[in-house]
Amino acid sequence: MNSIKILDNDSITAVKLLPVVIEITSQERRMIKDAAEHLQKKYGSYENRDFIRHVHQLASYFLPERILNMAADFASDFSKDQYGALIFKGLMDIDQENIGNTPANWQSADYSKFNLYGFACALVHGALPSKPVQYYSQRKGGGLIHAIIPDEKMKETQTGSGSSTDLYVHTEDAFLKHQADFLSFMYVRNEEQVPSTLYSIRSHEVIGENYHPLFEPIYKIPKDANLETGMNEEDTLDSVLYGNKKLPFIRFDAAEQLFSSSIRQSDKAQHYLEEFWEEARHLIYSDFTPQAGDVILVNNHLCAHGRSAFRAGVRHIDGIEHPCERRIMLRMMSKVSLIDMRGHTLTEDPFFVIEEHLGKNFQHF
Ligand SMILES: [Fe+2]
Repeated sequence: MNSIKILDNDSITAVKLLPVVIEITSQERRMIKDAAEHLQKKYGSYENRDFIRHVHQLASYFLPERILNMAADFASDFSKDQYGALIFKGLMDIDQENIGNTPANWQSADYSKFNLYGFACALVHGALPSKPVQYYSQRKGGGLIHAIIPDEKMKETQTGSGSSTDLYVHTEDAFLKHQADFLSFMYVRNEEQVPSTLYSIRSHEVIGENYHPLFEPIYKIPKDANLETGMNEEDTLDSVLYGNKKLPFIRFDAAEQLFSSSIRQSDKAQHYLEEFWEEARHLIYSDFTPQAGDVILVNNHLCAHGRSAFRAGVRHIDGIEHPCERRIMLRMMSKVSLIDMRGHTLTEDPFFVIEEHLGKNFQHF
């Protein structure tokens, strides 16, 4: 169990569960890079469906055994000691020169520069095993990888393009029934040294009776700030906790469910959400500052993610501001089963999810 003991007046008051940090060895990094280069030659793009269909076998064949074992354990461990996030330090060497200047926003990014990294991320998901998918609700699909880049025009928003406000912790696409099972965040650059934040439902010492109301389907979960708000979401409700009663999973978006001006929870729901948040907010972990080449792998049913506010393109060294390249992060999402969500994927592409809001699909498909 990866944890630290919290001392209060010389006595241990709580044991804080932490994400597992794995230092990738230079030999392992070499293996991953060689695999990605080989697969790039064979398949061209990580979007190639022949590659994605075979990604589990390819991961088993090419990835270092230690990573395969850790991924397999991570995928089916929902125990009290499982935080729900693995941090792989130095999984890839990033060719900063080849990336060049950070583009103005994700819309203008040249994805061919991320191709090799896409293969590496897909292999990590493949090892779980889980299948990389794309969501229409995110960037109208936009491919299996999304480059998350701070955008000056979007800096105040609660989206990946924001920067100047804290991005509250959230499970990805909390407003979908078939949200991603696993997420990976590969850091291409983080010169601003922005810490990422994580919050695990397993950080609560026990899930006692006071949490039972969170299993009730009484909570509004609006579509997020990336999407336009419809009129009909008022009546769609779901629970915050689900699955096992003692060791539950979580669906939660602090910004959208608690602090959004466009949504009003019932008095009862608001009360339980506030009570929950009062405890949860003290359990947020923000001690890890990702460096280029690091990958955070998240179980989206156990662990929420976010980040602190930052000034894009500014780095502080000894208290002095220096200009730097803005942050780039590559996000990949995956599902363990394509069968379970077949009612919510494109007829001709089961890797393309068209769910709009809690079991309802986008109308135009
Ligand atoms: Fe997110």
